[in-house]
Amino acid sequence: MCGIIGYCGPGNTVDILVEALKRMEYRGYDSAGIAVGDYTGTLTVVKRKGKIADLQKVIPSTLNGSYGIGHTRWATHGEVNDINAHPHLNCAGDIAIAHNGIIENYAALKGKLISEGHVFRSETDSEVIAHLVSTFYEGDLELAVKKTIKLLKGTYGIVCIHAKEPNKIVGARNGSPLILGIGNKEMFLASDVTAMIAYTKQVIYLEDGNVVTITPDGYKLTDGTDKILDRKIDYISWELQEIEKDGYTHFMEKEIFEQPESIKRAMQGRIDKEYMTAKFGGLNMTNRELLAVERIKIIAAGTSYHAGLVASYLLESVARIPASAELASELRYRNPIVERNTLYFAVSQSGETADTLYAMRELKRKGARVLGICNVVGSTIPRESDGGIYIHSGPEIAVASTKAFTSQLAVFYLFTLLIARMRDMSYEMGKAFIQHLEELPQLIAKTLQTNSHVKNLAKKYSIYPNFLFLGRGLNYPVALEGALKLKEISYIHAEGYSAAEIKHGPIALINENTPSVFLVPDDMLREKVISNMKEVKARKGKVIALAVEGDEEVARIADDCIFIPSTHELLYPFLMVVPLQLFAYHCALELGHNVDQPRNLAKSVTVE
Ligand code: F6R
Repeated sequence: MCGIIGYCGPGNTVDILVEALKRMEYRGYDSAGIAVGDYTGTLTVVKRKGKIADLQKVIPSTLNGSYGIGHTRWATHGEVNDINAHPHLNCAGDIAIAHNGIIENYAALKGKLISEGHVFRSETDSEVIAHLVSTFYEGDLELAVKKTIKLLKGTYGIVCIHAKEPNKIVGARNGSPLILGIGNKEMFLASDVTAMIAYTKQVIYLEDGNVVTITPDGYKLTDGTDKILDRKIDYISWELQEIEKDGYTHFMEKEIFEQPESIKRAMQGRIDKEYMTAKFGGLNMTNRELLAVERIKIIAAGTSYHAGLVASYLLESVARIPASAELASELRYRNPIVERNTLYFAVSQSGETADTLYAMRELKRKGARVLGICNVVGSTIPRESDGGIYIHSGPEIAVASTKAFTSQLAVFYLFTLLIARMRDMSYEMGKAFIQHLEELPQLIAKTLQTNSHVKNLAKKYSIYPNFLFLGRGLNYPVALEGALKLKEISYIHAEGYSAAEIKHGPIALINENTPSVFLVPDDMLREKVISNMKEVKARKGKVIALAVEGDEEVARIADDCIFIPSTHELLYPFLMVVPLQLFAYHCALELGHNVDQPRNLAKSVTVE
C-alpha cells in the first residue's frame, strides 16, 4: 500500500525512479510523484493525480539529477489530487519526503507546527514529516530524521532528501516495509524488491526502528541511535522476466496461466517418497513438537483467508486434528484465548498485510507459536514468525490474487499430509495422496483449456448486476473466493454462500436477473448441491454450473456448464477455482475495467 523509492547513483535518476514506480504501481495507483536533486542544490518536485503514465506526461524532458525519491499513492488521509500526492516539501522547499504508512498523531503535530508558523499545503498526515525534519535540521539530515521519528506514532517507511546534502537519502522504517538495495556505485531504498530487481539483487531488509543513510558509494545502517548495524546481505531470487507480462496482456492473465508451474514450485523438494509424507525446511519444529500439536488455527485476510478455510476443512477431515480459520482483523481485537499446544498459521501472499501481521504479533505476545505461509521472501510476516513455509509462487503483480491461492493450498495439502502421516494415515494412503497431488499441475493445465468457453460465458453474463457463488464442503471457501474475484475486478456484486445456506435467506434474491454459479464436484455432497440447483431453477434463476467432465445430469439442469477434469474429491478446490478466476477476468474485460489495478484497491494492504 503506497510504494516509495529512493535512488542515488550515476544512472538516469528520473528514468530509474519512474520505472521503479511503475513496478510498484500495484501497491497504490491513485497518484504519484518524484523529487529529484542535483549537485547545484536544486530540488524539483513533479507530482500528479492518476497513474504513473499520467505523471510521466508532465515530467519535463530536461529534468535530470543525481538522486531522488518517488512515491505511488493509495490515499489514506486527504482526497486524491495533485497536492496530496507525494513527495511533500517543508516550507522552504529544500526538504522532500515520501511516506508509506499512517502517522496517527499527525493532527497534534500539525497543530503545533502551524502554531510555530509552518504552512501546510496538503491534507495528508505525511506532510508533518517534512516540516518536522526542517525544524530539527542543523546541517545533518540523518540526525534530523532520527529526531523526527521519535515524535511519530503510527507506521512508516520514509525516504527523505535535502537540497543541501546532494546524493544522500535517509530512510527509516517502522511497520511499513523498506528495503535497501546495494548496487555497483548506486544505492536504492524501496518498499518492494521489484523496484530495484533490474539493477541489483543484493538487499538488506530493514527492521522496525532502523534508519539508513545511502550515498552512491555506500550505506550506513543504524538502529535509530548512533549504533551501527552490520546486517546480512540477502540475495533476491526473482528474475526480471518474472515481473514482466511476458507476452500476456495482463498480469492477472499471466498469473492464472502460470498456475501449473507455480503449484509445481510450491511442492518441489517437499515430497518424501521414502516415507510417503511431506518435508519442510523452515518449520523449526521437531516431529515430537508437531505430534504434540492438538489444534491448528489459521489467520489471514481476503483470498489467503479463503485458502486457510479450505485448509481448516482438510486438516480436520484428513489429518483428524481440530482446525479453524479466522479473519486476522477480527482475531486481533477480540482478546483471543491462546491454548497450549495450539499451532497458528499466519497466511499472507505479501507477508506485509497489517491485519495479519498485527494479529500475529498479538498471538506471539500471548505466547503462541505462529508459523507463516507467505510468498514474498524477506517480508515482515516470515521474518517475525517462528518458522514457516514459502509458497514460491514467484511475484504476484495483479492486485487480484490467483496463483498465490493455489500455491497456498498446495502447501497446506502437503502440511496436512505430514500431520496425517504422523497420525492415522497409512503409507499406502500417503502414497495415493501424493500421486493425486503430483497430477495437479497437469489437471490445472487441462482446466485452463476452459478459457475460451469461460470468455463466452463472461460475454453472456457480465450484463447481470448480482451473482451468487455456491459450493459446499471444501468448495464452499472456493465459492467465497469466486465471489471475491468477481466483485473486486468487475465491480459486479457477488456473494459467496454455502449452497445449503441459500434456503436460509439468500434464495429471496433469486430471479431471472441474479445468476448463480454452482460448484458441483463429484463428491459426497453432489446430490445435495444438485437439489439446491433445482431449487434455484424452480425460481427462474439462471445457473452456471462447474461440474466434472461427463456429468450430464448437472449439464441438463444448468443453463450453462463448465466442465473440469475428474480428480480425487479432496482436490477439486484447485480445479474449481481456475474457471472462477477466468470468469472474473473476462467479465472485467467485457466491462472495460483495469483488471490488474481495480479501483480503490492495492496489493499489500499495510494499513488496518
Ligand atoms: C483478493 C486479494 C486480497 C488479499 C488480501 C490479503 O484478490 O488479493 O483479498 O488476498 O488483501 O493479502 P495477503 O495475502 O498479501 O495477506
